[in-house]
Amino acid sequence: MSADTITIAPAARGLTGSFTVPSDKSIAHRALLFGAIANGTTTITGFQGGRDNRATLAACRALGVAIEEQGETLRIEGRGFAGLRPAADAIDCENSGTTMRLLTGVLAGRPFTSRLVGDASLMRRPMRRVIEPLGRMGASITSEPGDGRAPLRIEGRALHAATHTLAVASAQVKSAILLAGLQAPGTTRVDEPVRSRDHTERMLRDFGVTLAGEERWVALDGPQELRGTAVTLPGDFSSAAFLIVAATLVPGSELTLTGVGVNPTRTGLLDALAAMGAAIEVVPTGQGAEPVGTLIVRHRPLRGIRIDGDLLVRSIDEFPILCVAAACAEGTTEIRDAAELRVKESDRVAVMATMLRDLGVAVEELPDGLVITGGAALRGARVDPHDDHRIAMAAAIAGLVGRAPVVIDDPGCAEVSFPGFYALLARAAGA
Ligand code: S3P
Repeated sequence: MSADTITIAPAARGLTGSFTVPSDKSIAHRALLFGAIANGTTTITGFQGGRDNRATLAACRALGVAIEEQGETLRIEGRGFAGLRPAADAIDCENSGTTMRLLTGVLAGRPFTSRLVGDASLMRRPMRRVIEPLGRMGASITSEPGDGRAPLRIEGRALHAATHTLAVASAQVKSAILLAGLQAPGTTRVDEPVRSRDHTERMLRDFGVTLAGEERWVALDGPQELRGTAVTLPGDFSSAAFLIVAATLVPGSELTLTGVGVNPTRTGLLDALAAMGAAIEVVPTGQGAEPVGTLIVRHRPLRGIRIDGDLLVRSIDEFPILCVAAACAEGTTEIRDAAELRVKESDRVAVMATMLRDLGVAVEELPDGLVITGGAALRGARVDPHDDHRIAMAAAIAGLVGRAPVVIDDPGCAEVSFPGFYALLARAAGA
């Protein structure tokens, strides 16, 4: 291994042992931001955040919030929405779409001007999806290049409530609207075509907020203040996903993952893999705001299926690793309704199509997904992950389950969500 590439060789034996994965990125972003706008002390335990979460932590500090870090425990001294102070400089959201989009909802209602920037990948991503709905609540958010992308300039002001119907299910957009709604008098409501992850709704309740909602809508009456609380972070299901697929695909595997968040709005991969023939046991071990469980994964041969609609939304971040599973499954897997994947950290539809072809897999690329004909052993390849953590990790699993090594350029991008990924994989595979 050199600093700028890593080579992942085919597994010599099954994946075994019992492991934990780093804390849930999506939940940790919310715990940090909600703690920053709450009144009183919030403690977060089990924080092992990667670069994305550290961007949110730094953003909260830049807004004047005192956060003490001791090992894996964070202590946030929130002074309410009104305690936030203008940042001295532009806030750097780095690679994190969640940081940027959720911050727009918070900062739109604060009485000062903020500027949000990010890395090259984040500056390419669409922000009109938050600029427009927040604009209907009276927010003034300008895309500096004028094309709906960052840098964003937010002139904070008094907001008013509004009802929104989202064209595309998005927890980031829903959350940004709710954070603005907390600062706006009246009822703010969001309707989604398909239910997106509900971490915001669950955690806001723990912070003392009253919300109404069912399957595909949520509403709150503003203004409301948050009350500091204690949050324990579960392991990130989206990180566990790479190990789940690896253990399913490598003969002889029996892998245990403990303390993993198993919120049903996140675990579409388990349902997809079950339909493909996998054997994954979920043993519930806890239920606070979020359900937590132990996953036991054994090797099974897979067969192709169709993944779309609600199942796709519940496995939105698992698209890259689902593609690897599909490439190893007997028959055809069709993944549809996935146009959103084109505007993630990379164009994941196009990047995965290229990766799979390089691995010798027959792939048809559609505007909203891929048709993958699987079953033949993957050949080796060199993969450019396009600075996308989930692409790099999917490539690593392709190397582990194929018949020849995969070389990954710039493997360090995995640290965005999964610090220590390659070392953990090596331990599980006995390398
Ligand atoms: C996230 C929501 C999803 C997901 C992203 C994290 C969140 O994005 O892909 O990785 O934490 O709210 P969208 O809401 O844009 O679908």
